[in-house]
Amino acid sequence: MKTFKIFVCACLLGSVNFTSAQNDKKMNQYIDALLAKMSLEEKIGQLNLVTAGEVTTGTAVSTDVESKIMSGSIGGIFSMTSPQRIRQAQELAVNHSRLKIPIIFGMDVIHGYKTIFPIPLGLAASWNMPLIRQTARVAAIEATADGLNWTFSPMVDISRDARWGRISEGSGEDTYLSARIAKEMVIGYQGDDLRKNNTLLACVKHFALYGAAEAGRDYNTTDMSLHRMYNEYLPPYKAAIDAGALSVMTSFNDINGVPASANHWLLTDLLRADWKFDGLVVTDYTAVNELVDHGLGDLQQVSARSLKAGVDMDMVGEGFLTTLKKSLAQGTVRTQDIDRACRNVLITKYKLGLFDDPFRYCDPARQKKETLTDEHLSLARKAAGESFVLLKNQAQTLPLKKQGTVAVIGPLANTGANMPGTWSVSADLENTASLVEGMRAALDSKVKIVTHLGANLTDDSALQERATMFGRTIPRDERAPEVIIDEALQTSQQADVIVAALGESSEMSGESSSRTDLNIPTSQRRLLEALIKTGKPVVLVLFTGRPLTLTWENEHLPAILNVWFGGTQTGNAVADVLFGDINPSGKLPVTFPQNIGQLPLYYSQKNTGRPLKQGAWFQKFRSNYLDVSNDPLYPFGYGLSYTTFSYSDIHLSNTKINSGESLTASVQVTNTGKYDGQEVVQLYIRDLVASQTRPIKELKGFKKIALNKGESKTVEFTISPEDLKFYNQQLEFSSEPGVFKVFIGTDSQDLQETEFELTI
Ligand code: NOJ
Repeated sequence: MKTFKIFVCACLLGSVNFTSAQNDKKMNQYIDALLAKMSLEEKIGQLNLVTAGEVTTGTAVSTDVESKIMSGSIGGIFSMTSPQRIRQAQELAVNHSRLKIPIIFGMDVIHGYKTIFPIPLGLAASWNMPLIRQTARVAAIEATADGLNWTFSPMVDISRDARWGRISEGSGEDTYLSARIAKEMVIGYQGDDLRKNNTLLACVKHFALYGAAEAGRDYNTTDMSLHRMYNEYLPPYKAAIDAGALSVMTSFNDINGVPASANHWLLTDLLRADWKFDGLVVTDYTAVNELVDHGLGDLQQVSARSLKAGVDMDMVGEGFLTTLKKSLAQGTVRTQDIDRACRNVLITKYKLGLFDDPFRYCDPARQKKETLTDEHLSLARKAAGESFVLLKNQAQTLPLKKQGTVAVIGPLANTGANMPGTWSVSADLENTASLVEGMRAALDSKVKIVTHLGANLTDDSALQERATMFGRTIPRDERAPEVIIDEALQTSQQADVIVAALGESSEMSGESSSRTDLNIPTSQRRLLEALIKTGKPVVLVLFTGRPLTLTWENEHLPAILNVWFGGTQTGNAVADVLFGDINPSGKLPVTFPQNIGQLPLYYSQKNTGRPLKQGAWFQKFRSNYLDVSNDPLYPFGYGLSYTTFSYSDIHLSNTKINSGESLTASVQVTNTGKYDGQEVVQLYIRDLVASQTRPIKELKGFKKIALNKGESKTVEFTISPEDLKFYNQQLEFSSEPGVFKVFIGTDSQDLQETEFELTI
C-alpha cells in the first residue's frame, strides 16, 4: 500500500513538473518573440508605472496618461478603478499602441476593497489564519470585479516601535506570526491560478526593513546587523515569496548605507540569487527619484543604479522613462539590464493571462454581483469581532446586558469615515456606519443608545486637521472643553453604562503619521476623568492603529476593549462583543509599553549580561530604568476572554532528540469559566546556550481553539528541526546542540515551561 502511494505521488509530481516546464517554454518563446519586436523606447515604456491620480502618496502626479499609453510609454497604471474606465484604458493599449501590449492595473488593496476588514494589525490580532486568508480572498474578488489585477499587499514589515505610524499596516512585532500571515495573504490574493478573473497578483512590501526606521520616524534610515536581519526581519518577506508572491515592492529607506531601491545586494544577491525570486520588482512611489535626496547622484545616475540593482518597474517618478536611453548610449546601463526588467514585466502580464484576454477583469456584471455581498459583510463582522482585544475586564464589567440605556460618548462615536481605518482608499466612507449607527442596528432597539461628542479628538485644531485627512472627518466643536464635557455628562445621566469611544483617528496611524506622544490626547483624557466621576461603569472602546500608552487608563477604568479600526462592520461587531454575542478572543500581535521611553519594546529580547533577578523591577547596575520597570503594560500575545482557561503542565514526547528529529509538546487546556470561548494557545522556545546570543523566547507555534464552558482539549505542537535553527555569524541556518526551553501558554508572559536537550 505504502509503495503504491509513493508511486502515485511521484507520477503526479512528474506530470506537474512536465506541464509547468512546457508552460514555461511556451511563455518564454512568446516573450522572446515579443521582445525581439520591441524598440528600446517600448521596452523602457514597460518599466513605467503611473498613477491615475485618484490616490497619491507623494507630491508627484502622472501626466498625459492617455497619449503615453498609445505611444507604448506605460507598462502599468495604479489607482484607476471601475471595469468601464479600465476597459477604456486597456483598449487604448491593445488597440492603439504599436505592439498592443496590455497594461497591468494595480491598487493598494490592503485590508479589503469595498468590504473593509480590520486594519492589518487588527487582523493579526485574530491569530486566525483561515480567516485572514478568506479576507484576502474576498478583497481579491471585489478588486478584480472592479477591474484590478494587482494589489500592493501584503505589507510584512516587522515593527517594534509604536511611534512608526505604519505599524498599523503590518502584522506587528513578531517574525513567526508575521511570516504565517504573509503566506495566508498571498494565497488568499493569488488563489490557485493567477489567470482566473478573480485572483489578484500580490506584491510583498516594503522590501526591506522599512519597519525598523530609526526613532519610528517614517522614511527614516535603517541600520541593522545581518544576523538580526536574517533571524528577525527578513523571514516574513521570504515566507510571502515562498508562498508564491509574484511581485515585490522596494522600500524607501536606507539599509546600512544603500537605500533599498538602489541596493544590489538586497534586490539581486539576496532576492534573486539566494531566494530564487523570479517575479517583478517595483519601487515604491517615486523611490527612484528619492535616491537623489538620499545623495546618490542626479536622476540619470540614480535611475541607472536602481535598474542595475535589480528594479524592474519605476513607480510614478519616470526616472527610467526619461533617462535610461541616455544611460544606455553612455554605457552606464546595458541592453541586457533593460531587457531583464522588461522581460519581468511582460512575464507578469503573461502569468496574469492578459495577453490572452486583456479585458478579463472588466465585467460590470461581476462588479455588481460580487461586491459588498451579505457573505462578505458577515465575514467582515466576524473578522472585526475576532480582531478586538479585551485588555481589561475588572469584576466582569463586560459583557453588558442587553437592556437599559448606554451612553456612547467620544470623538470616535459618530464618525463612519474613520471606521475603515488607514489605507482603505476604496472604502465608501459616506456609507460606512459609525460606531453608534452600527451598534443601534445590531441591538435592534433592545438597548437605548444616547450619544455625544464629549471632547474633540485633540485640543490642537491643526493637529486634528493633519489627523483627519482624505475625508476621515471627525466633528469638531470649538466651544470650551468644559462646556462640551458638561453636555456629555447630561447626556450620560440617563445611562446605566458609559461606553467611551476614544483614541486615535484613523489617519493618526498609517503612512507619514509617526507620533512622539502615544498617550490618549489630553482633550479625551479630560473627558474620561469626568465620565469616571459620574460613578457609572465606564468601558473604554479604544480606537487605535498602534500600541498606545494606556497606563493611566488601565489604572482608572474597569474595562478596556481595543477595537483598532475594525472596517465596514465595526459598529455591529463592537455590539456583538460588548453585549456578549461574541466572546473576545483577540491577542496582541505587538507589545503595549507602559510609556514611550521604553520603545522599542518587544517580547523576544536578548537577556543581556546584566538581566534583572526574577521578581525585581530595579537593581543597581542591572539592565533597567530608574523610573519604570522593564515590563510592558500588556505583553505580546495578551488578550482576555469573558471566560477563563487553565493550562496543564507541558508533556514532551521526548526529552532528548538529535538534530534531525522532531518532538511533540502538548498541554491540556480547559475552559474553566462561564462562557464558551476561543483561546490562542502559544508555543515559545528558548535556545539556552549557543555560539551567539539568542532571544529569551521566540514564538514557534500557535493554535486557536474553541472550547465550550467546562470543556478540555489537548493541544499538541510538533517542534521540528527547523524550529531550532537560526542564522549564525556566518549566516548559516543551523541548530546547535544544548538545552532548549519550551513554553506554552496564553500570552508571552503567562506560560508553563519545561525543557529538552538537542544532541548532535
Ligand atoms: C507609498 C506607500 O509606501 C506604498 O505602501 C504604496 O503601495 C504606494 N505608495 C502606492 O500607493
